[in-house]
Amino acid sequence: MKKKFSNIKVCAFDAYGTCFDINSAAETIKNKIGKSWLDFSNTWRTTQLEYTWLRTLMKKHADFWKITKDSLNYSMKIHNINTKYQKELLSLYKNLSVYPELKQTLQELKRKKIKTCILSNGTPSLLKHLVNNANIENLFDSIISIEKIKIYKPDPKVYKLVTDRFKCKPSQVCFLSSNSWDVVGSGLYGFQSIWVNRANKIFDNLDYYPKATFKNLYELNKFI
Ligand code: LAC
Repeated sequence: MKKKFSNIKVCAFDAYGTCFDINSAAETIKNKIGKSWLDFSNTWRTTQLEYTWLRTLMKKHADFWKITKDSLNYSMKIHNINTKYQKELLSLYKNLSVYPELKQTLQELKRKKIKTCILSNGTPSLLKHLVNNANIENLFDSIISIEKIKIYKPDPKVYKLVTDRFKCKPSQVCFLSSNSWDVVGSGLYGFQSIWVNRANKIFDNLDYYPKATFKNLYELNKFI
């Protein structure tokens, strides 16, 4: 029997890969991209994340939309993809598919009077658009973007945005992310962090291990 979390006030969700399917942009036009569409999508994502970390280290901030465009351009060159699809991919990225279980998960958290938020590298307008598209805007108490501090995850200042917003202790926050490094960063800050391992990946060795590992978000309501 899995142990329930106690004393949780806030459930904070990572956006990209946790609530929204980052591969859905390339997947939608996979017949135009060809067989390597998933490898291409993985390069795009990895490069996008590397640019966030590099820009934070270099203290040369650019917002997530610019980074998404820059990393797309680089990844298209790596995979020899015709640049004529660039506009279409960017438009699809603005309208990524939502994971089907998110809405019900949020509704159950609301019934339990738990506060909910997104904590993401995305810009406020990108996040607002995704949430509105999925018709779940009323199920979040807050959409928190790193643009407020212009520092990317996993800097501890990012996770502090949640405890500042909800005036709570880190241990009262349950954080869910499909990115193991994001689980580590938030867990080291003090959140009770859960890894949403949708793709059967291996967890990183960075001196923090998740409080629980789920296949998808449905399992959350058994814990809280
Ligand atoms: C985010 C990325 C890291 O939403 O998934 O912050």
